[in-house]
Amino acid sequence: MDRLYIFDTTLRDGEQVPGCQLNTLEKIEVAKALETLGVDVIEAGFPVSSPGDFDSVVELSKAITWPAICALTRAVEKDIDVAADALKHAKRGRIHTGIGTSVYHIVHKLNSNPDEILLRAAAAVKYAKKYVEDVEFYAEDAGRTDNEYLARVVEAVIAAGATVVNIPDTTGYCLPSEYGEKIKFLMENVSNIHKAVIATHCHNDLGMATANSLAGVINGARQVEVTINGIGERAGNTALEEVVMALKSHKELEIETNINTKRIWETSKLVSTLMSMPVQPNKAIVGRNAFAHSSGIHQDGVLKNRENYEIIDPKDVGIDESSIVLTARSGRAALKYRLASLGVNDMSQEKLDEVYQQFLRLADRKKSLSDSDILALVGERDSAQKKIKLDYLQVLCGKRVRQVATIRIDIAGEKFESTSSGNGPVDASIKAVKQIIHRQMSIQEFLIQAITKGSDDVGKVHIQVEYNGKIYYGFSANTDIVTASVEAFIDAVNKFVN
Ligand code: KIV
Ligand code: ZN
Repeated sequence: MDRLYIFDTTLRDGEQVPGCQLNTLEKIEVAKALETLGVDVIEAGFPVSSPGDFDSVVELSKAITWPAICALTRAVEKDIDVAADALKHAKRGRIHTGIGTSVYHIVHKLNSNPDEILLRAAAAVKYAKKYVEDVEFYAEDAGRTDNEYLARVVEAVIAAGATVVNIPDTTGYCLPSEYGEKIKFLMENVSNIHKAVIATHCHNDLGMATANSLAGVINGARQVEVTINGIGERAGNTALEEVVMALKSHKELEIETNINTKRIWETSKLVSTLMSMPVQPNKAIVGRNAFAHSSGIHQDGVLKNRENYEIIDPKDVGIDESSIVLTARSGRAALKYRLASLGVNDMSQEKLDEVYQQFLRLADRKKSLSDSDILALVGERDSAQKKIKLDYLQVLCGKRVRQVATIRIDIAGEKFESTSSGNGPVDASIKAVKQIIHRQMSIQEFLIQAITKGSDDVGKVHIQVEYNGKIYYGFSANTDIVTASVEAFIDAVNKFVN
């Protein structure tokens, strides 16, 4: 197995996206998550660009232990001085300096010529070497740079001491075959190439960032520059999770990374939340639907053997299991599986058939069915057979009154009554129930939702109760939300009391 280094630029290229800016504390939180995830390098910012970026590089250098902290510069001495200053607390600091190498950049941006740019590139690397051992050079717009000229630049910067040479497809222009060829050309035509690591840095303007990065890796690159969720300017950068999981899925490539893939889901959610950047539902690996099966044939196939329709075990990226989205196309097997995961295990085939018919009628009216809908279907049919039932409930609540509930419940035909006060009418009522049913149980989740709108609406209550280390689900719906809450609680309790 060959080792591929993961260079994460979520906090530099990713953070350049309008609206994604983080404060220093948030950056530290993301950087710590990246460290736990196992990235090799964290690009922490562009210190000369603003005092905020400078401070972030300083603080991340102090907070992070294992990954190298990298600071971006232009091929300008002042930038390099400031970057070196920002990195002074880093356990392992890297300066990332560079300049445009395509004709577009040389002529129309830098107003220069190829020979002068080559000299400036080498000089910047040499200058940065005064401060740190680890110097990375980027040839901006390498994707559109002539390969012969690019090879000369790469050779010159390696001779000047570059430890890593980055070949960015800055505009996301290349085709995978073209980008792969470029890396291959450099590997074969730069005499000192073995003295440095070649890096890919691909943008996603044509939706090919991951394909291009992998083409680069297959042809010899050993560092990929990536962001979490593929965030980045315009259409974004290469997504870390896509490259890592592609390599994990294709063992025949014999390339491994240091990423703890089980942390991917968590890290993705953290970055999306802090940067206020939702992940598109169908995004590979981390989208809400990435492991959600909705067609009946696929659901049946996945339940028989996950690998029939899944190339990645969701657990490998930190998701508990693939979700089966119940729709009118779902089969009995999928319904049975979902009911079992909601704690309804003891259903006869006959009863399941009956519930399934009701399910299909409801699914015809709604696009997809939630857990509450499914529990409601079963709940309606089951209420007569429940051991514990709510018989009577009276609550006293309002402003400046003591919230008190009196409750009577029927347990297998015998009636029990209790009164309790509490922090609100629901709390008082549930405490009263608990005084009758002496069990060590705690509410883990409690959700009240209106079905439609208006003050005469029905409230749906979904509750999760923990008992003996297991979770039991309860559901009820009523125009009186206190009654619905107590019934939902009793519904959950019925699942473990026998
Ligand atoms: O896309 C790019 O070229 C970059 C460089 C600054 C590395 O982000
Ligand atoms: Zn970039």
